[in-house]
Amino acid sequence: MAENVSAQARSDRWSRESWRGFPIQQSPVYPDPAALAETEAQLATFPPLVFAGEARKLKKNLAAVAAGQSFLLQGGDCAETFAEHTADNIRDFFRVFLQMAVVMTYAAASPVVKVGRIAGQFAKPRSASTEKRGDVELPSYRGDIINDIEFTPAARTPDPRRLMDAYRQSAATLNLLRAFATGGYANLENAHRWMLGFVKDSPQSHRYQEVADRITETLAFMKAIGLDAESHPELRQTDFFTSHEALLLGYEQAMTRIDSTTGDPYATSGHMLWIGDRTRQFDHAHVEYCRGVKNPIGLKCGPSLKAEDLLRLIDILNPDNEAGRLTLICRFGSDKIVDHLPALIRAVKREGRTVVWSCDPMHGNTISAANGYKTRPFDRIMSEIRTFFAVHQAEGTYAGGVHLEMTGKNVTECLGGARMIAETDLREHYDTTCDPRLNAEQSIEVAFLVSELLKAERATLPSPQVRAAE
Ligand code: TRP
Ligand code: MN
Repeated sequence: MAENVSAQARSDRWSRESWRGFPIQQSPVYPDPAALAETEAQLATFPPLVFAGEARKLKKNLAAVAAGQSFLLQGGDCAETFAEHTADNIRDFFRVFLQMAVVMTYAAASPVVKVGRIAGQFAKPRSASTEKRGDVELPSYRGDIINDIEFTPAARTPDPRRLMDAYRQSAATLNLLRAFATGGYANLENAHRWMLGFVKDSPQSHRYQEVADRITETLAFMKAIGLDAESHPELRQTDFFTSHEALLLGYEQAMTRIDSTTGDPYATSGHMLWIGDRTRQFDHAHVEYCRGVKNPIGLKCGPSLKAEDLLRLIDILNPDNEAGRLTLICRFGSDKIVDHLPALIRAVKREGRTVVWSCDPMHGNTISAANGYKTRPFDRIMSEIRTFFAVHQAEGTYAGGVHLEMTGKNVTECLGGARMIAETDLREHYDTTCDPRLNAEQSIEVAFLVSELLKAERATLPSPQVRAAE
């Protein structure tokens, strides 16, 4: 049944399990399928992690991004792990994320849609299904929701109990994030306090301090004229959404629920799901699952994606051309982006498709350092972001977002930045189990670059009055 399924032929029969009838990439092999099915059935009875109404709110916010009125900041770990599930870790991430958001909101005078790669980002696609060390060959590590990174047969065997652990960890993480976002931590009056985690003398901390000073000044003025955080909850709260790659479809299926208000199916494992560059075949399982849930969907676009295939995917994933439904997350590499992005933009524009264009400057810029560490040069990351904005300006389209792998810790995983991390420094704090992430300072540096580019981009947009009259 899997062969030759055309987009048309299948359009009528989506269900939460219809993906099972399609070929699938990156799917782990469990030794005990009955145990897996039992776990999935149990998960399907558990409370949802997010609500359909929240996913709809995010979609609405993303529609504003598509219209050039807002900007998407999406970021977090490459992969969350069971070992690093601490309140400190979550707080440090959230703090840097707020700093970035506030810098962008203030410096570019643009609303920022805040989406974490968090509370569900556990499954990883791998380039090879097995890993060989000496004479020993074992299944590849696929993320903590599937197996363990330790190189032993027991650890590498996919274990269904991990779905439960991932669910519970996601629930706990989300609980803390909700408290941070609405319980006072994210109050703009705290802009100075978000600094505390920083190395004191860092160049980015000075720059951030200046922004925080201006915000404090603005808030004092507003208070003087009667606008304070007590009477204006938007000053003391923020909307923070979650996202992850929809890779482990058995888990996603178990977390799919029918929304009682609309009767529509929603993924309740996170607000936004994305389809990876390795699993975006239009006639395969991941696209089939994602087309049926009503959440905002991301699609990773890499160098191998042809314009005609992109249009076909857009037809399947967003047949009604609904604004905010689809975010195209471009990850070409700083040296390849000019060769690939314009053709995709032109095709989407020609067909009148409404999408959010977002830039993932991480995944196309991964290299191996001479000492074997997998790393990413910071200047290439910055360069891909600059080119992304320049291409959109040339094409007359809106560069609407960035998608980053980042952490609140001062890790040494990406080369360069204000502290000029060198190859020999990588071993100092190389903590990732997967891809190298921006550290706190590098993340702030990216936020300042994006602010400048965004400010320039917004200056060239028609004014709101002109837009309203159109
Ligand atoms: N509610 C607004 C927003 O989310 C303002 C705001 C409150 C804010 N706390 C924030 C902005 C923290 C950035 C960071 O945009
Ligand atoms: Mn990654």
